[in-house]
Amino acid sequence: MMRHDGRQGSAMIDLFEDERHCLPLDPGAALLGGFASGIAPALVEAIDAMATIAPFRHLETPGGGRMSVAMTTCGELGWVSDRSGYRYARTDPLSGHTWPAMPLLLRDLAGRAAEAAGYPDFHPDACLINRYEPNARLSLHQDRDEATLAAPIVSVSLGVSATFLWGGHRRTDRPRRHRLHHGDVVVWGGPARMTFHGVDPVPADTHPLTGPYRLNLTFRCAGLRRA
Ligand code: SIN
Ligand code: FE2
Repeated sequence: MMRHDGRQGSAMIDLFEDERHCLPLDPGAALLGGFASGIAPALVEAIDAMATIAPFRHLETPGGGRMSVAMTTCGELGWVSDRSGYRYARTDPLSGHTWPAMPLLLRDLAGRAAEAAGYPDFHPDACLINRYEPNARLSLHQDRDEATLAAPIVSVSLGVSATFLWGGHRRTDRPRRHRLHHGDVVVWGGPARMTFHGVDPVPADTHPLTGPYRLNLTFRCAGLRRA
């Protein structure tokens, strides 16, 4: 409907802004373009600080391979993998100490992104920190080691851009490919919570904040919280 009070113009701008910033991937899943751009330098700094306490490491897979992505964790629970399988652990197997606490900046970002995608009250207890060097990749998988599937996954991309694989509920479903840039956030939950996803080999490139690396933060509710 035409308006003559000048409001249609600004409403249109808002609409286009929203379309540019929020790309629905599937029911329950969205790509929030640039959602974390403003605080990205502080996120990278926080990651560097945490990695001095709990260093990045290439985990061993249950099959005896070595992951090309280097990982560490902050929060109460850290995702680990070795010959005996995948699981969440309260302490870092390298040091025997608890993982670095999840900084408020990260916790707050995760909550705001989840809310923007339709999941209010997201309180993650685990933040997996992935570091991709050139050619590192993550093959199609489901995030299925969490004690509850009721909460979404919130995934923040930093540094070198990469191609995200967004599949279906079966491993054989042909994935769609979406470019993920510095500051982009992907949220998936509800009917999309068990969607297969992955990352294509990261190209050799450099980013002013992260050098040759792509960094990724993945926030999860991994354990059942005490009431
Ligand atoms: C993951 O699936 O845990 C990470 C996804 C990503 O690096 O974008
Ligand atoms: Fe994942």
